[in-house]
Amino acid sequence: MNINKFQIELLQWYELNHRQLPWRLNKDPYRILVSEIMLQQTRVETVIPYYERFMNWFPTVKDFAEAEEEKILKSWEGLGYYSRVRNLHSAIKEVSEFYEGKIPNTKEDISKLKGIGPYTAGAVLSIAYDKPEPAVDGNVMRVYSRIFKIQEDIAKPATRKIFEKKVHDTISNEDPSTFNQALMELGALICTPTSPKCLICPINDQCQAFIEGIQDQLPIKTKMKKGKTIHYVSVVVENENGELLIQKRASKGLLAGLWEFPNYEIKESETQISTQLILDFEEQYNGKLIDIKPIGTVKHKFSHLTWEVQVFSAQVLQNVKEGLWVSEKELATYTLPIPVQKMYELYVYHK
Ligand code: ADE
Repeated sequence: MNINKFQIELLQWYELNHRQLPWRLNKDPYRILVSEIMLQQTRVETVIPYYERFMNWFPTVKDFAEAEEEKILKSWEGLGYYSRVRNLHSAIKEVSEFYEGKIPNTKEDISKLKGIGPYTAGAVLSIAYDKPEPAVDGNVMRVYSRIFKIQEDIAKPATRKIFEKKVHDTISNEDPSTFNQALMELGALICTPTSPKCLICPINDQCQAFIEGIQDQLPIKTKMKKGKTIHYVSVVVENENGELLIQKRASKGLLAGLWEFPNYEIKESETQISTQLILDFEEQYNGKLIDIKPIGTVKHKFSHLTWEVQVFSAQVLQNVKEGLWVSEKELATYTLPIPVQKMYELYVYHK
């Protein structure tokens, strides 16, 4: 492979074909960092409106470092993987406190920040600071596995290093920023997971997989086993003022710090709300439930497990003081994970 030719053709293709994306307006390292965190498990089209709102709410390191926890969670509502924004907040507070508000420009320092792994470090150092560092994610592994016919299993964590070495050996030292973005763009627009558009690929004559006609067999990726399903009942409870009862999730673990309706784990076989659960509820919240009705089921897949929730609506007999009761307007200011939003929609539909 002629590395010089490969670089030139990739960069030329990028100049003519790349998308205008909001994080490509300038090289502000803070803006680049936020975009890379948002893009980690989320598609570009989904990210764009979140990113623009985020930058309106928190235009600078200082704005985000000083932001309240509830507001930073709200900025991420619906994006999933909320630990991303919690870690980003820790990282940016650290930048504000120890680096005079400037995102560090060395691999050593940036990698010390919370939630910044080798991919994000490489992406920020190359895109924002023009350092010739690899930024290897799933897209880049797909592109390189085809160009260089690399047959390692990309589902294995150890494999990333093999690709990092290959990118290190082939990256443009003159323009690493554009080079890494061009690899991402090629992976998004041409070298797609299924039906890659090899006939219009700028480097098809240098792609070992295309030359051998095996582009559909690469990358090699063993299937992750599916996580287990956990069953719950959840109750949307309304009081005499039409307010709903919500509770905050624990500060650690899945969906930490987000809000939900009262819920209880059940065995798979139970499909009716049990008297025990009603008693538990009444004890915890000190109010009597009446008019309990099933309003549907919400199923939600997380990366490692699935929730299956039988949803009920109910009223409380007297206005109870225990718990946080909110009007529907107030509810909109709390951060609800997507499955909880779906439960709320069931409640609205059945009202
Ligand atoms: N995926 C990850 N990083 C990206 C970026 N900077 N632009 C487009 N897609 C991406």
